[in-house]
Amino acid sequence: MTTVTVHPTGEVVEVRDGETIMGAFYRTGYAMRIGCKRGGCGFCKIDVHEGDFVYERPVSDEVVTPEEAAQGVCLPCRAVPSQDMVVEFRENSLRLVNPLMRYMLSGKESSAHQPRTRVPV
Ligand code: FES
Repeated sequence: MTTVTVHPTGEVVEVRDGETIMGAFYRTGYAMRIGCKRGGCGFCKIDVHEGDFVYERPVSDEVVTPEEAAQGVCLPCRAVPSQDMVVEFRENSLRLVNPLMRYMLSGKESSAHQPRTRVPV
């Protein structure tokens, strides 16, 4: 299992073996801007700051230019981390849409998601 950390917000998502970056974020309660989900449109492009990935399924050769690839541009709909990564989403394209799922998967309690308790009167 690897992790993907979001720069600059610091969110961390665990990625299961063979799971794409997009799949891991969706599974943990997030949504991101996507198009084809097949490595063919480039709408999902993110920037990799650290770590590496592989495309276990084909992506279009025309979506990410060689210059972009050299700069660390990645298609998270197809990219599977091969080591822990730090990535940056463009134009705030990542958003948390299911805070409860995120809380349940974290196994931790945070002040923002404390369960409500009844107060005796
Ligand atoms: S959603 Fe089309 S390339 Fe990722």
